[in-house]
Amino acid sequence: MKFFVDTADLKEIQEMNALGILDGVTTNPSLMAKIGVQGRENVLNHYKTICEMVDGDISAEVISTDFEGMIREGEELAALHENIVVKVPMIKEGIKAIKYFTDKGIKTNCTLVFSVGQAILAAKAGATYLSPFLGRLDDVSTDGLSLIADICTVYDNYMFETEVLAASVRHPMHIIECAKIGADVVTCPASAIDKLFNHPLTDIGLQQFLADYKKVEG
Ligand code: E4P
Repeated sequence: MKFFVDTADLKEIQEMNALGILDGVTTNPSLMAKIGVQGRENVLNHYKTICEMVDGDISAEVISTDFEGMIREGEELAALHENIVVKVPMIKEGIKAIKYFTDKGIKTNCTLVFSVGQAILAAKAGATYLSPFLGRLDDVSTDGLSLIADICTVYDNYMFETEVLAASVRHPMHIIECAKIGADVVTCPASAIDKLFNHPLTDIGLQQFLADYKKVEG
């Protein structure tokens, strides 16, 4: 399973990258706004900085909703670095853009996916990654994990190469359940990755070992 961090915050990215287990980064316009990046030039430079920090796929989202605009933006983003993945919304123009980018050898991440039907369309267009938003489905009392499982089944049935990138992850159990289902990638907030470390028996055990070693030392 690949592990992406879902943030545009350079400090968080640096911390996660230092663990040595990071395979990539996903961003979105809301995450960029959250850290206060302003102006197109600064946005592009920010993506470049992330690419230089992390050796893995970095998703950068287009803002346009028309085909021509998406192509213009996507090509500009892809030119920044070979690891840029152009993130495109799941709309008709987006599917056309994904097909275009696929034919050009540009990697894509189809975002805002909430159904198996949408997942089939993105795979047919050749998306590199598909981002079903499981947390947002849970938020409206719908089972996000079932959607991830259903998409994995359909993709396996037809050996689609599109990788299932579980997104909108809220907590460690989302990560664990996605791993059990067999999602190819999970993108998580840094806080959820941090929480995977926690276990009281690890803390108690370590304290005991350290205390006992003091006796060994004399
Ligand atoms: C995915 O790529 C999105 O950036 C993200 O996971 C959305 O998560 P949210 O529902 O917590 O905003």
